[in-house]
Amino acid sequence: MAHTDERYMRQAIKLAEKGVDRPSSLPRVGVVVVANGSVVGKAFAGAGGSVPALTSALNQAGEKCEGASIYANVEPSAEATDAEKLISRLLDCGAARVVVGIAESLSEARPVLDRLNEAGIEVVTGVCEQQCRRLNEAYFKYVHTQVPFVTVKFAQSLDGRLATATGNSQWISSPSSLRLAHQLRREHDCVMVGIGTVLADDPRLTVRLIDGRNPLRVVVDSHLRIPSTARLLREGAHRTLIATTAQADSGRLSELEGLGAEVMTATGAADGSGVDLPELLRTLGRRGVASVLVEGGARLITSMVAARLADRLVVVVAPKLIGRGIEAIGDLGTTNLDEAITFSSVETRKLGADVVFDARLN
Ligand SMILES: NC(=O)c1ccc[n+]([C@@H]2O[C@H](COP(=O)([O-])OP(=O)(O)OC[C@H]3O[C@@H](n4cnc5c(N)ncnc54)[C@H](OP(=O)(O)O)[C@@H]3O)[C@@H](O)[C@H]2O)c1
Repeated sequence: MAHTDERYMRQAIKLAEKGVDRPSSLPRVGVVVVANGSVVGKAFAGAGGSVPALTSALNQAGEKCEGASIYANVEPSAEATDAEKLISRLLDCGAARVVVGIAESLSEARPVLDRLNEAGIEVVTGVCEQQCRRLNEAYFKYVHTQVPFVTVKFAQSLDGRLATATGNSQWISSPSSLRLAHQLRREHDCVMVGIGTVLADDPRLTVRLIDGRNPLRVVVDSHLRIPSTARLLREGAHRTLIATTAQADSGRLSELEGLGAEVMTATGAADGSGVDLPELLRTLGRRGVASVLVEGGARLITSMVAARLADRLVVVVAPKLIGRGIEAIGDLGTTNLDEAITFSSVETRKLGADVVFDARLN
């Protein structure tokens, strides 16, 4: 049975993955209904879907729900706006078993799984739990802390350089790795860069190489050095937020607002090193931003990592040597090796000519 449960849970996870376009404040949900060894209903929570995946899957299965097993990667009511209605539906459908990846209850309703158990439905939890948790890691962090999940991503040479000494970084990595950048953008609510990157590369920070939603673009820029000709202002300025400080010129602030961008005067960092990043993340969280992709450059990446604000690090390592150049990560104040930042669940994979390192910071 355990083997069968894992097989169908993997199908539920695959379905849930189709909901990557959903804002990270909503869970990614996949549901599979199995009766007599066949899948009789399946659904996932899509970008704009108002019907919970569980309801869609049960509707599809109809009378075949009688005696069926229902597989869902998260606790069934996590996705529902009316958890009570969903629970009644589950109790009435005649299912014999409910198998979930993560048992954690996030709804206001009394623990759903207990109620199903009391009603005589067999409840199995923790199937493929690690994969299920990974799929919704941004969502879980956000609902528990109201602070967005932060992924730091960059491409570096084999000798740890982000760019040459003259600031040239396009393109260190291979075309396949560029696609990865666009995939990550699609999966996050917001992309953030430092003003140094805007001045050096004039990026668009949109999703172009694949289909998908464009995230909010945030630039940290204490003195409003962003040029009016920047692509972030010429193309879709209404999706650009510039986080500045009180040191910025108020006339320049009005000009940028006139171009359509939103300018937010954030708190300055206590050590004078620009925008107070913890406060900025909390502010973004209050606006409903549940995931942030930090795409560089060196100073912003270093600040994020040094302040222990990053949850995940994705590094594309290209088989190139640059020698003297801009180092990807600067001073972290580490004097002893036991102070070094370490990682859990490290994954590496080959992508074109590059190697991708993908891990969670401890
Ligand atoms: N290989 C890659 O994946 C990749 C990706 C991106 C960029 N790059 C390269 O990286 C280089 C740019 O890096 P960079 O270090 O010069 O610039 P950056 O990290 O993009 O921007 C740094 C600037 O952001 C502002 N800032 C505001 N608050 C900050 C804070 N709390 N922490 C850090 N910065 C803050 C500061 O300017 P103010 O004081 O004026 O606010 C700071 O100088 C370019 O050569 C670019 O091509 C490479």
